[in-house]
Amino acid sequence: MNQQSKVAVIGAGVMGEGLISALISSGVNPELITISEKRADRSAELTAKYSIKQAPLAANVAEADALLLVVKPQDMASVLEEIKGSINPTALVITFAAGKSISFISSALSTGNPVVRVMPNTPTLVGAGMAAASVGPGVTAEQKQFVLGFLAATGKVIEVSEDLQDAVTATSGSGPAYFFAFVEAMVAGARELGLSDEDATTLTIQTIVGAAKLLDESGKSATTLRENVTSPNGTTAAALASFGSSDLNSMVAKAMKAARDRSQELA
Ligand SMILES: NC(=O)c1ccc[n+]([C@@H]2O[C@H](COP(=O)([O-])OP(=O)(O)OC[C@H]3O[C@@H](n4cnc5c(N)ncnc54)[C@H](OP(=O)(O)O)[C@@H]3O)[C@@H](O)[C@H]2O)c1
Repeated sequence: MNQQSKVAVIGAGVMGEGLISALISSGVNPELITISEKRADRSAELTAKYSIKQAPLAANVAEADALLLVVKPQDMASVLEEIKGSINPTALVITFAAGKSISFISSALSTGNPVVRVMPNTPTLVGAGMAAASVGPGVTAEQKQFVLGFLAATGKVIEVSEDLQDAVTATSGSGPAYFFAFVEAMVAGARELGLSDEDATTLTIQTIVGAAKLLDESGKSATTLRENVTSPNGTTAAALASFGSSDLNSMVAKAMKAARDRSQELA
């Protein structure tokens, strides 16, 4: 893989667009990016917006040095069936579909292409994503560097062994929704205490954004930051004691195990 490598993006929906944007910010020339997208209007929108090309699936994968598979998990088998006859046999295949294993992709293709599996999350769309990549057999150091390089442009990236991908799904993949649910609960709580919907929403969102920024930028742990705002017998202590009596930790752990188990089932 080098600056002249051609990249095919298969499926240019929500996540596909985030990845196209990351590819370009990581230095890939837009002229070398070609999308294959079922919806013609979406394809036209993205080719105009990012100055990239579009091509039918078979032609696209025959030319590409790297393929990003960004279709829904339920569409993956038919896409693999459609491309296996024409794929460039040395191309790197990068799959983003939840629950679809490297061995699933490899055996459906039966072409021997190297495969990398990635779990991204939706904050990718604002450059604050968290991605975890698992590298399959035969992936070269250069190919791995390419993947980690463009994923860094989506936010942060780590490498994990593939058996931990269900745990990653339960943590960072589904994780944004946990915080959204918490925000919904806090807004409802603030309204019950008499605040208007608008003020409850502003106070809650700015609080979660500020807390996240402090966690990211202060270099202090969540425990230290929590302790810093908790004076003995104060207001925060009263709220945290209530969380403790509802056993927040085991509630969160139970929810994450449910997400991990569901991810295993879907695979
Ligand atoms: N969004 C997330 O938070 C997130 C997080 C982690 C992982 N992922 C993974 O990312 C993948 C994509 O998710 P998404 O939310 O971006 O889905 P999406 O918005 O539905 O995008 C997928 C796109 O692929 C198109 N498509 C389907 N079959 C195709 C084919 N044979 N050839 C070309 N295009 C085809 C779809 O068109 P139609 O709509 O017409 O079918 C759709 O526009 C999923 O596998 C998901 O598991 C997403």
